[in-house]
Amino acid sequence: MCGIVGYIGEREVIPVLIEGLRRLEYRGYDSAGVVFFIDSRLELIKKKGRIFELEEEIFKRLPKGAKAPGLGHTRWATHGEPSEANAHPHTDCTKTLALVHNGIIENYQQLKKELKEKGHEFSSSTDTEVIAHLVEEHLKNKDNIKDAFFSAVSELKGAYAVCLISEKEPDKIFVARNQSPVVIGVGEGENFIASDIPALLPFTRRVMFLNDGEFAIVSREKVEVFDSKGNKIEREITEISWDIASAEKGGYPHFMLKEICEQPDAIKHTLLGRINLDTMEIDFEKEGLLKELFERVKKIFVVACGTSYHAGMVAKYLIEKDVGIPVEVDLASEFRYRSPLIDENTLFIAVSQSGETADTLAGLRLAKNKGAKILSICNVLGSTIARESDVVLYTQAGPEISVASTKAFTTQVIVFILLSLYLRRLFFNEDVSQKIKTLLDAPTKLQSFIERVRPDINEIAKRWYTVKNALYLGRNILYPIALEGALKLKEISYIHAEGYAAGEMKHGPIALIEENVPSVIVAAKETGIIYEKTLSNAEEVKSRRGPVIAVVSEGAEEFKRLADELIEVPLTSYELLPIFYVVPLQLLAYEIAALRGCDIDKPRNLAKSVTVE
Ligand code: M6R
Repeated sequence: MCGIVGYIGEREVIPVLIEGLRRLEYRGYDSAGVVFFIDSRLELIKKKGRIFELEEEIFKRLPKGAKAPGLGHTRWATHGEPSEANAHPHTDCTKTLALVHNGIIENYQQLKKELKEKGHEFSSSTDTEVIAHLVEEHLKNKDNIKDAFFSAVSELKGAYAVCLISEKEPDKIFVARNQSPVVIGVGEGENFIASDIPALLPFTRRVMFLNDGEFAIVSREKVEVFDSKGNKIEREITEISWDIASAEKGGYPHFMLKEICEQPDAIKHTLLGRINLDTMEIDFEKEGLLKELFERVKKIFVVACGTSYHAGMVAKYLIEKDVGIPVEVDLASEFRYRSPLIDENTLFIAVSQSGETADTLAGLRLAKNKGAKILSICNVLGSTIARESDVVLYTQAGPEISVASTKAFTTQVIVFILLSLYLRRLFFNEDVSQKIKTLLDAPTKLQSFIERVRPDINEIAKRWYTVKNALYLGRNILYPIALEGALKLKEISYIHAEGYAAGEMKHGPIALIEENVPSVIVAAKETGIIYEKTLSNAEEVKSRRGPVIAVVSEGAEEFKRLADELIEVPLTSYELLPIFYVVPLQLLAYEIAALRGCDIDKPRNLAKSVTVE
């Protein structure tokens, strides 16, 4: 996820771009850059780091006579490490056009190969740079930027919001959108472009939205919108009433809620580019994960902390059940101080949103010293854990701002699902295409589930937000989900919550059951006999007058009879159960914490990235 801004008009261009970028920094912050005109020539300034570092660089260079149009970009690396060379804007060989991009170009490797064969020279390892060279290539037989830009964009596969300016036509900004957000701010004799509304609010509240597949040509006086075939279309102007602070969170009161609701998109991006839609095969090769890695693997260690550890627990169920390799899951802080049995036939998987967690990193180094191969699942490109791994599979969740992890977890689980299906195909030549289709349908299904269940969970939270203790119970692949639900509740609402394996309850925690201690029980019909067993545990709670909040499969009649509260989850595949069941637990924790007036995005005593022991 990156942030883009554009401006055309009479104002001083650099302050407008910087102001916009500051308001988009939540979308990504590993490098930034701007491009504008001086004496009819394009001038680029880029810097690795945060927006304030770019500002310092601009201040050092003191560019005189800077004029609009201009573009700015704050980057969240997906292809190519965070660096000045990979920072946007990117240019073509002639350096007479420059562009910024948000999204992922899936066919960039193919396009890059073809363009290199035609003599184009690349100066970054980003997917974005191919777009600049592709426009340059099309300009060889088109006499205007519009036609070259439209033709180039029609060759792109994947997600993009692109803005381009050029020395050839310096009175226009060219915009294209597909599956990545972009919005145009309409002014008087000036116009603005941004990834998100907050960047526009200091300048205008009148905006135009672009739909997937559409283009726009933005000049000082007008905004022209075109459909994917190049036909001009009318687009109405919408008046925005948000205040600036709430707009940064996309209108959500907290980043946590925004991030919960972003999960369908985050999952879609994590799947994108790893599934060949023609063959329905999973492809990790371009990320450096070769099948040879698995030839010698006799055992897998998954090591992580907190929520990432729970994703690791899910992996154990997926991989042991269907791939047949033993998987040990360890808390990194424990793993690093015991004597794990590791050799060169061991695969060590580190799971970390930040890629900087000190204990996970120490575990990784220990395993590496003992000869294990290191695979990591990280969200932050170029993080220390990612850099020290043999192979990295990135979750494409975008920046996670809220301390309580949500979309990082579900995308980690998605990577593990892909990995387990990949290994089933590799080891047993199993046809997993149906499973992959189900995965591809998951984002849309999850989206409508979230929309349906949010109001119900809000009502349930109103009835339970004053309790002091809660139990979370689940079995099998939903056991880690019970742990994760309890972790979410305790960290943001400060209610004492214990996650337990439901079958273990009668060995101790059952003593806690009383009228004021609700048990949140997760049970899915898809788990067959496990579902029946969890139902018996629910009966045990009920018979001791303990309230039951049941998070169960749609149509689970047995629970309707005994539960005090019922949250029905759509039926799905075994692999996807952790995704569909964790979301209502995230929402429940969120709604309860909101009713208790807690500082949800920054809970007390916690830090987003734990870089010390
Ligand atoms: O960045 P990491 O995934 O390595 O972080 C691990 C934990 O610190 C993190 O998951 C923490 O437990 C979150 N607060 C959970 O919401």
